[in-house]
Amino acid sequence: MVTASAPGKVILFGEHAVVYGEPAIAAAINRRIYVSVEKRSDDEISVTSGHALKGGYPYVTAAVELTFEFLGRCCGLDVKVDSEFPPASGLGSSAAVSVATILATASLLGGDVGKKDLARLGHQVERRVQGAASITDSSVTTFGGVLFIKPGLEVVERIDSESLPLVVGYTGVGGSTKEQVEKVRVLRESYPDVVGPIIHTIGRLTLTAKKVLQEGGEIGGLMNINHGLLESLGVGTDLLSKYVYAARDAGAAGAKITGAGGGGCMVAYAPGRQDEVARALSDAGGLAMKVSVEGQGVRVERK
Ligand code: MEV
Repeated sequence: MVTASAPGKVILFGEHAVVYGEPAIAAAINRRIYVSVEKRSDDEISVTSGHALKGGYPYVTAAVELTFEFLGRCCGLDVKVDSEFPPASGLGSSAAVSVATILATASLLGGDVGKKDLARLGHQVERRVQGAASITDSSVTTFGGVLFIKPGLEVVERIDSESLPLVVGYTGVGGSTKEQVEKVRVLRESYPDVVGPIIHTIGRLTLTAKKVLQEGGEIGGLMNINHGLLESLGVGTDLLSKYVYAARDAGAAGAKITGAGGGGCMVAYAPGRQDEVARALSDAGGLAMKVSVEGQGVRVERK
């Protein structure tokens, strides 16, 4: 049996805009998904999980298939998935489970898959299952740390700022990335002269945030602007706004939707105020998680 794990993520800047070629900044978080694989005597692929994965197990089965194709080998497998964070919550469970499945399967079969290939195959799994997906989630879960992502040019650059005090607030409502991406696409098509510049502005904001992070500055104000722009793209909800304002009222320097929106999670940047912000989010009815940046991406846990 081989067990591999991969971290979840928060997007600090640039979600949705990244689908249109603008940059994004995302951080791996210290909550992981664990995937164990074991050979079976027949050629079935059987998947079990301690929690319900988004839409069943399509990411796991697609990841196994792609790994078989990549290695030119296959076998029957028992796959077991465990997670330290809720699925379909905007914390990158799909990419994490995909990349961890690929590494566990390849390792079981004695195949050597480097990190670049793991990220590329993970992205292929996401595209195969959900249609459109940027390289953000698959890159962050593979490499870990805080990453600056520039799609199109396929630039993935590590930003040295791994001590960000973050609090995630989960609404308990599963957001569908596919639906939210589609919603923004329709809005952009309906009002190209209005929505195009908003998307471009999110990209500029992300570039500013990269500079601020590299200089060890304060990103809260920029996160608040990003939240407003995401609201204008229609991916906000009443609960997300409630938590965003609760976090700011409790002393967070910045708070915004993270990921696709339409439910899922918000993230607060709360230097010196993590406990107060977590309490405020719980009081507002959310599931609060104090998280920190995880430097390590996908890895083999046990062989
Ligand atoms: C989802 O975590 C982030 C989105 O930008 C979609 C993507 O990048 O594929 C909404």
